[in-house]
Amino acid sequence: MKTYKGNERGIDWDLVAQIICDWIADSVKAGDALLPQNLGTIKAQLERGECAVVFDGKQVVGYLTTYLLGTDSHGRAWYEVGTGIVPVERRGQGIGAILYKYIAKRHPKETLVCTTKNPVALHLSVSAGFEIRPFSDVPTEIRQGLCYSAPCFIAGENNCCVSQQELGGTCYARIRLPLK
Ligand SMILES: CC(C)(COP(=O)(O)OP(=O)(O)OC[C@H]1O[C@@H](n2cnc3c(N)ncnc32)[C@H](O)[C@@H]1OP(=O)(O)O)[C@@H](O)C(=O)NCCC(=O)NCCS
Repeated sequence: MKTYKGNERGIDWDLVAQIICDWIADSVKAGDALLPQNLGTIKAQLERGECAVVFDGKQVVGYLTTYLLGTDSHGRAWYEVGTGIVPVERRGQGIGAILYKYIAKRHPKETLVCTTKNPVALHLSVSAGFEIRPFSDVPTEIRQGLCYSAPCFIAGENNCCVSQQELGGTCYARIRLPLK
């Protein structure tokens, strides 16, 4: 398997974007809580080259992206890591682990944050060096882009969101500070 960042030459990224878009639509239909995406947003993310896209030979088998949330008052850049997706028939084969580790390695100097209620994504991000932290550890100026500021956010005692609305269940913030 080989991992790309999304804008290398020699790959039909428009076709890849369409495939990823279809996976996300299926996943949302199945009830997974993924950030809303469309073909345009996925193409833009691939063009920026801040994604992890895993190929098994010529077949695309996994996708994870990053978004710049902003820069905090100490000048640190914060990126959200999200929309991790592997097609159903390829899950449980280690592709998700490749995605999270690739993104963590490619952003050694940035602060990465992700939120999810998916236990597999939670496990994979912790394995890639993220720590479960209170949402309050995310500076106010960065929070706007996160679900922290969403109407469904209800702070729980256990460093998590305990909202039962829309996303449902318990959602954790995870942060990977810059590597030294
Ligand atoms: C999340 C997702 C990308 C993971 O991809 P994947 O390729 O199946 O993941 P992997 O095979 O690399 O890893 C699965 C890991 O989770 C562990 N795992 C499986 N079920 C688990 C559970 N219920 N709770 C905790 N860990 C679990 C496995 O043991 C494995 O860990 P290991 O590598 O330490 O052995 C995939 O499940 C997916 O596309 N889900 C739907 C979309 C979604 O909700 N994405 C999350 C968005 S933030």
